[in-house]
Amino acid sequence: MDKPGKKAAYRAREAPAERVADPVPFPEDLQEENRLRPPTLDEFVGQPALKEQLRIFIEATKRRGEALDHVLLHGPPGLGKTTLATILAHELGVEITHTSGPVVERPGDLAGLLTNLAPRGILFVDEIHRLSPVVEEYLYPALEDFTLDILLDRGANARSLKINLERFTLVGATTRSGLLSAPLRARFGMTLRLDYYGASELAQIVTRSAGILKVEVEPEAAREIARRARGTPRIANRLLRRVRDVALIKADGAVTLPVTRDALRLLEVDERGLDDMDRRLLEALITKYHGGPVGLGTLAIVVGEEAGTLEDVYEPYLIQEGFIKRTSRGREATALAYTHLGFEPRRSMAAEAGASVVREKPARPPGDPRQPELPLR
Ligand SMILES: Nc1ncnc2c1ncn2[C@@H]1O[C@H](COP(=O)(O)OP(=O)(O)O)[C@@H](O)[C@H]1O
Ligand SMILES: [Mg+2]
Repeated sequence: MDKPGKKAAYRAREAPAERVADPVPFPEDLQEENRLRPPTLDEFVGQPALKEQLRIFIEATKRRGEALDHVLLHGPPGLGKTTLATILAHELGVEITHTSGPVVERPGDLAGLLTNLAPRGILFVDEIHRLSPVVEEYLYPALEDFTLDILLDRGANARSLKINLERFTLVGATTRSGLLSAPLRARFGMTLRLDYYGASELAQIVTRSAGILKVEVEPEAAREIARRARGTPRIANRLLRRVRDVALIKADGAVTLPVTRDALRLLEVDERGLDDMDRRLLEALITKYHGGPVGLGTLAIVVGEEAGTLEDVYEPYLIQEGFIKRTSRGREATALAYTHLGFEPRRSMAAEAGASVVREKPARPPGDPRQPELPLR
């Protein structure tokens, strides 16, 4: 049983989020996402190195007529892990069963899933870092020798039963590969990391999705959405749907650049894809802690989020875009964070930023809409 505090926090995460830039799916996304999911590797946009590896891997597996080796997919939410698992099944022509770490509570649940798999089928375990240690123990022999040792009865009558399984492929997905136990990680034949997408790749995804949703989107508007989607296809698709709604009400449905900018302003997503929460976080770091370093736990309390969520969901993008630095002493705001929010960078940052001056005084009011447009990456 979860502790009450933990459970409440978990529920809070599962509640419909308000943040349009949240990479974790909303209920509305889940309904739409299957429609927007590319069915083949060719239609999967971006991640060229990863696609190349998978192509070779799939082709070799098909030629040998075997089950694919176990695959671990990791990376921040919304980058295409679930999509890739379904693509793998499609490309190999095998069945796939979806489950997730916290759902597989007991060894019996695992046995049920594994014995029901079709030959060479894929078992997709989302959030695999949340599998219980007991279930993990049962999983090891299944992954290595395709057998399960099930314990029947308890105490004096205890017997164990060995079940032989069909060969199968485990595809695990995780946002936190650091939480995966070393023995589990070692059992994957292939580990693939998904990276944030560039703006031109996201623009391609937006254009593709617009086609499926039958919305007319100007190329300029697609690029604008792409630029503000935090490198994340799920957010790009969500922004597209929100912008489409605004366009429908205010502009006969045509998604033009002005309509897009207007809609994104309404949604409070700025030109770097940062939303209110990101800006609050950076502002707290700058105004309350002189730009840091400050520990993750402290920062989490200041902005009212769980430390784990901060680390997995907000931080990776802020770090990748150079707004935050992670140091041994904690998190630090960079010169870019200062200027983006309209603060003067500190003197010690001047060299790094190429800026001249001094203190933590807003040069412009934070959130000023006149912030400069930034080029496409
Ligand atoms: N490379 C991609 N090309 C096109 N669409 C993508 C790509 N990656 C993700 N998507 C879209 O983004 C959405 C979220 O992807 P998903 O696979 O559910 O992410 P994850 O499982 O990593 O959280 C899906 O609806 C999918 O259509
Ligand atoms: Mg997923």
